[in-house]
Amino acid sequence: MIFITPLLLFLPSCVSGTFVVNVTQTSYHAEENQNITLEWTFSTRRDTSLRSISIVCEMFTEIRRYLLFHLHQGVESPESQDPEFSGRVQWDKDVLTEGRLTLHVSRLRTSDSGFYVCDIFVIPDESNSRRCWLIVTAAAELQTQRPTESPQPERHRFIWIYVGLAVTLTLLSLSAAVFKPRLTKCLCRKR
Ligand SMILES: *[C@@H]1O[C@H](CO)[C@@H](O)[C@H](O)[C@H]1NC(C)=O
Ligand SMILES: *[C@@H]1O[C@H](CO)[C@@H](O)[C@H](O)[C@H]1NC(C)=O
Repeated sequence: MIFITPLLLFLPSCVSGTFVVNVTQTSYHAEENQNITLEWTFSTRRDTSLRSISIVCEMFTEIRRYLLFHLHQGVESPESQDPEFSGRVQWDKDVLTEGRLTLHVSRLRTSDSGFYVCDIFVIPDESNSRRCWLIVTAAAELQTQRPTESPQPERHRFIWIYVGLAVTLTLLSLSAAVFKPRLTKCLCRKR
């Protein structure tokens, strides 16, 4: 949280000049192992070419940040991508020059939850950025299995507590029966 708070103060919608970056959705919700498409739109001109576009997209969690997409003057540079997202991010080249950045993130993990910021720079305009949230929850089948599994070990534990108690009580009464006569015998002898 300490890490995110200063960023939240500086990143929001500071629209500088005429160059605008929007998100089509401010938050997304998905399940583990699903695929998702995150989308940003930005201002373009008639002559906007692929080579004039540079983009850096990062994912922020409470702990750290991950670079998931880097486009340098129209050329993707996968070497700067965080291994966490390796082979899981695809984009559409043909819609980019129309001002649409579509990032397809596949095989989602719960650790992909966080906010995603894309900084888009188009020559000769200024750059701008927007963020959206993604929440990835654990797969549904894992959640439904849990309630049916948990009561059983609980019941077994109680059975063993009762068995343990019964055994202890039996042993106690037996030992009392065995030792009591001896104790009285000893006391008698001393007298
Ligand atoms: C951004 O959003 C505003 C307000 O919804 C809209 O007027 C504008 O056309 C959008 N621009 C782009 C480039 O998506
Ligand atoms: C998710 O994306 C991967 C890789 O692009 C693809 O192989 C898979 O079929 C997709 N799964 C679904 C459910 O769309």
